[in-house]
Amino acid sequence: MHLSPPTTTQDERPLGRDPLLAASAVRELDPANVAPRALYGLLTSIVVPRPIAWVSSVGPNGVANVAPHSYFTVLAHQPPMLGFVSVGIKDTLRNVERTGEYVINVAGEDLADRVNPSAANFPPEESEFAWAGLTAEPSRRVSAPAVAEAPVSMEMRLIEIKPIGDCFLVIGEVVHLRLAEAVMRGDRVAPDLLRAIGRLAGSTYTRTADLFELQRPTYAGLLTERAGNAGARDAAGPPRRG
Ligand SMILES: Cc1cc2nc3c(=O)[nH]c(=O)nc-3n(C[C@H](O)[C@H](O)[C@H](O)COP(=O)(O)O)c2cc1C
Repeated sequence: MHLSPPTTTQDERPLGRDPLLAASAVRELDPANVAPRALYGLLTSIVVPRPIAWVSSVGPNGVANVAPHSYFTVLAHQPPMLGFVSVGIKDTLRNVERTGEYVINVAGEDLADRVNPSAANFPPEESEFAWAGLTAEPSRRVSAPAVAEAPVSMEMRLIEIKPIGDCFLVIGEVVHLRLAEAVMRGDRVAPDLLRAIGRLAGSTYTRTADLFELQRPTYAGLLTERAGNAGARDAAGPPRRG
């Protein structure tokens, strides 16, 4: 690791930083001076939790492949597009490029011990499905199979593979959704039923069991609330001392 040791730079710190942080040591880093492996470890420990695209695809000899990718997000709704990133060139990337089709499956925590083995560096002729005890289910609209055990599978058609730095961003359109009723509430997948797992740094994962709600405010609502608080403070009078 080439990270510089913690330094206390209280005087140089920008104004407005949280006073709790200002009181403690802070590490200031120029990414250009951080070794690539350390930078990878750092970024993947900061951008957390990451959802996991469990990507299934078909290899050159018809071998079904599945591998987790946690550099994964929604990119657009109309048309529905998702993106995942291959860190370097891997079987999944090769298969997606060759066939133009793949499936993004989402696993609940009950499947965590099957997601993990599918990340091993299997040779292309070896199917992760068999090793992880998974069933390759034929898809409706793409040649790649879905993971039958996964509660959510999204059939994807490749739009673009965009090289970015030392990685490859795979952009695809969702052409079919297969959703287990067991994870649905109304028109949505319910997080408490899906119980998706997320990746943190290294071999640490998180559950999505501890949920809480916050209603998104409007600006007008916030102004009203602030006026209400100020009114309440005025009514209470000056703070008592002693
Ligand atoms: C939870 C988890 C998330 C991962 N995320 C990514 C990722 O976003 N991109 C990537 O290239 N590899 C990622 N990996 C590593 C790949 O799954 C691993 O290299 C796998 O062997 C690739 O399989 P393939 O060669 O069949 O495509 C991840 C591994 C785990 C366990």
